[in-house]
Amino acid sequence: MRRIAFINEKGGSCKTTLAVNTAAYFASNNKAKVLLVDMDPQGQAGKALGFYVRDLSPTVYDLITDPDVKARDCIRESQVENLDVLVSNKQLSSFPLEVAADGDRERKLSKKISRLKGYDFVIYDSPPSAGLITTNIMLAAEEIVVPVNLTYFALDGCAEIVESVDHMHQEFGKRDLRISLVVPTLYRPTRLADEILAKLKRYFPGRVARTVIGYNVKIDEAQSHGKTIWDYASWSRGAHMLESLAKEIYKL
Ligand SMILES: Nc1ncnc2c1ncn2[C@@H]1O[C@H](COP(=O)(O)OP(=O)(O)OP(=O)(O)O)[C@@H](O)[C@H]1O
Ligand SMILES: [Mg+2]
Repeated sequence: MRRIAFINEKGGSCKTTLAVNTAAYFASNNKAKVLLVDMDPQGQAGKALGFYVRDLSPTVYDLITDPDVKARDCIRESQVENLDVLVSNKQLSSFPLEVAADGDRERKLSKKISRLKGYDFVIYDSPPSAGLITTNIMLAAEEIVVPVNLTYFALDGCAEIVESVDHMHQEFGKRDLRISLVVPTLYRPTRLADEILAKLKRYFPGRVARTVIGYNVKIDEAQSHGKTIWDYASWSRGAHMLESLAKEIYKL
């Protein structure tokens, strides 16, 4: 079972878009059994798959705060064959306070996910902030894919993730955690974007994806309709870019 987290503490870097569409691609194209876990209180991974998450219960919040709740009680089938989802909503934002006094607060998620059977992939979507939720994700994952919106401050965010991964190695003994791929996103052909891309390649030699995700409005539209890019506009440039990226991640 491969456990892949899409993480960048910077908001709007395309974490949710890449997590949802990569998960859907593995499920429908590679016929893999995939679980998508939304660890963001914004609940957008579920929304992007057409769930009205606000009123849903139980969610991933119940799973990681209540020792008696099992993953199979919270997992939902999605509209994509072979793709199951653990949705979240606003309630997840109270998780850090709720478990603050618990000695195992950093391992709430990994304890529940490690008992899961029957999946080829578990894919995590993350919130745009560092903190206890992201620590839980890092302890429950092995691979981190970092989507990087090619703007001036992008490299600051990358440095923070590298520090967080080092912290996981040293403080938690989580030696198998690694940044497996850095994905340039929302690329526009400007000199600044090209300079940032060149810097990224120097900073992460051999780990920057060959696929650069450019701006394509069909990707945004698909999410507004609660659909994957393949169900919404499989012929679009957006679909081709996301397919090429999913194939790269599959082969890592
Ligand atoms: N290649 C693209 N072209 C056009 N729009 C895109 C593209 N990728 C993502 N978007 C849109 O950009 C917005 C931000 O993307 P997304 O929600 O995936 O980022 P995020 O990193 O998950 O954000 P947050 O940090 O808030 O969780 C969304 O509205 C999404 O539909
Ligand atoms: Mg998101």
